[in-house]
Amino acid sequence: MSLPEEIKQRLDILDVISFYVPSLSKSGRNYKATCPFHSEETPSFIVFPERQSWRCFGACAVGGDLITFVMKAEKLDFTEAMKVLGIRAGITTSKKTTDRQMNASLYQTNELANTYFQNLLGAPEGMSGRIYLQNRGFSSEAISKFEIGFSPANGQGLLQHLVSNGLSETDAVKAGLAIQYSDGNFRDLFSARIMFPIRDHTSALSGFGGRTLDTTQPKYLNSPRTELFDKSHILYGLDKASEFIKQSKEAIVVEGYTDVIAAHQHGFNNVVASMGTALTKYQVKRLTAISRNFVLALDPDAAGQMATFRSLVDSWRQLEVTQTRSKSGFTLYHREGSEINLRIAILPQDKDPDTLIRESAEEWERIVTNAESLIDYMFSSAGTRWDLKSPEGKRQAAQELNHVLSSINEPFEQEQYRRRLAKLLEVPLPTLEASLGRLITNRPTRQPSRISQNEAMRSPFEAAEKNVLEEHLLGFIIQWPELRTFVASMEPTVINNPEDRYLLTAWLKCDTIGSLESSLDDNVLRRLKYLSSLQMPALDTSQREQAIKDCRRRLEINFLKSIKAEEEEILLQNSSVPEGFEKRVTETNEKLKRLFLEESTKAAEQ
Ligand code: UTP
Ligand code: MN
Repeated sequence: MSLPEEIKQRLDILDVISFYVPSLSKSGRNYKATCPFHSEETPSFIVFPERQSWRCFGACAVGGDLITFVMKAEKLDFTEAMKVLGIRAGITTSKKTTDRQMNASLYQTNELANTYFQNLLGAPEGMSGRIYLQNRGFSSEAISKFEIGFSPANGQGLLQHLVSNGLSETDAVKAGLAIQYSDGNFRDLFSARIMFPIRDHTSALSGFGGRTLDTTQPKYLNSPRTELFDKSHILYGLDKASEFIKQSKEAIVVEGYTDVIAAHQHGFNNVVASMGTALTKYQVKRLTAISRNFVLALDPDAAGQMATFRSLVDSWRQLEVTQTRSKSGFTLYHREGSEINLRIAILPQDKDPDTLIRESAEEWERIVTNAESLIDYMFSSAGTRWDLKSPEGKRQAAQELNHVLSSINEPFEQEQYRRRLAKLLEVPLPTLEASLGRLITNRPTRQPSRISQNEAMRSPFEAAEKNVLEEHLLGFIIQWPELRTFVASMEPTVINNPEDRYLLTAWLKCDTIGSLESSLDDNVLRRLKYLSSLQMPALDTSQREQAIKDCRRRLEINFLKSIKAEEEEILLQNSSVPEGFEKRVTETNEKLKRLFLEESTKAAEQ
């Protein structure tokens, strides 16, 4: 099964779209809402669950399948959309198969080490570790759920264990579990540390974090970057939390391993850790694939410090949010249309989530519930960050807060916050505006996106035949580039398979197959190879030209037929139809009639 097929099989279009368009409501067998891609009063955006398709019957007049929806909603190209959907469907798309096979043995090495560390925690050598964990209040359920272990103090224990299991010392180094000194000797990387295995969202064991029991630095030693482990791509605990995040529709992000474990131990199962850094764009992608609502619970030890603020601004930029008005206060917008709600939980002084939860789970719950919107947090914490009495402090606060304010879409809203900022700084508004000067005029404006011609359609009709036709068409133009002129004016949306549509568009822009190849990523390249190797019928030049014209016409007919079917379904439901709908129906019918006529004339000629 191809990746797009697998994704479509695993995901339901209604789930995916209602994630972006929460206002979808049932209308007969289908669902409707006001179109997320243009502004309108009456709903003309329809999702057809049975066809697994969607279409705007209003001004933007586009439609397609769930892949094209995500491409459009998130402004992604095909490959990027496949990644986002792949994450959502629990399929990893980024790794090449060869990588996967090679990595399989590294994963096995990690698993072997993991079992060994866990056993050691229960063994006499693990006594100090057990006492440490017990003193910190880790339950035995939590220890086994998070597979906590202990690494031997002799510096060679793991290596010996791996070697006795048939692995080489080099394997251990590759997995990031051992290091080789310049004298050629190998040693375990982790020595006498509490071991926290780090699994990625698919539960694959990517690496470890090891905590010292004493004051040895660093406090946490993590696996080095290996083929498998890149801390910036993983959220600790996501493998265990993701179901709960989907259920509760909210993800709570903390900083540390122990924060996640304490939270889960006390029944807060939707908690994950960024592992000590500001959220990276990769981590944000994982999160926004499964939730819209986030609470960042940050260690208070850094509150009042620029670092927290900066990391917050960074994380927030990663979410690429702009703000707009909503009844419940503030709603952040994720790219176009899909709402992101980011709140900040402020923890009491000297308490990180781990300490707080162990002391009082109720207090933790209260603090998370009362988390402030990002912008309110920025205002309420400004006084601890800058000296707001001094001109220099005022200037800095104005600049930093302006970054956030300038992304508020609504001019009146923005104005209101500027007044609030002026009040906070105790300066007249004009003075503030003057000091911000250029920044204000540089405010990014978000215009509704222009209607892209490159939108997909998915036909419920004759799917099998259609795919053959599409493959044929692409096979023709790839194997005989001169045939491209016959499809240059064709709407790419006529091609049902988004990968093929992408290929077609890319091919029309390239001169040679070589330059096309170099512009494609592995997934699409594989598709290109397949299409280049398709057995095409033996035809002479004029027959080929005839064949591609026929192919194109048939595809266009099928495409229009699917639109017609959707239009008829809307008419049948007899509810109010969008403006200009009848005209569209007539147009579709006329186009179809013309093509049918052309087809039958051609058939008669032959
Ligand atoms: P913290 O210093 O807040 O530690 O770092 P913690 O999680 O509260 O751990 P305890 O309670 O002291 O045991 C937060 C996170 O930052 C990363 C780890 O992921 C840690 O959980 N970190 C911290 C490192 O990777 N290396 C370090 O040396 C320190
Ligand atoms: Mn802690």
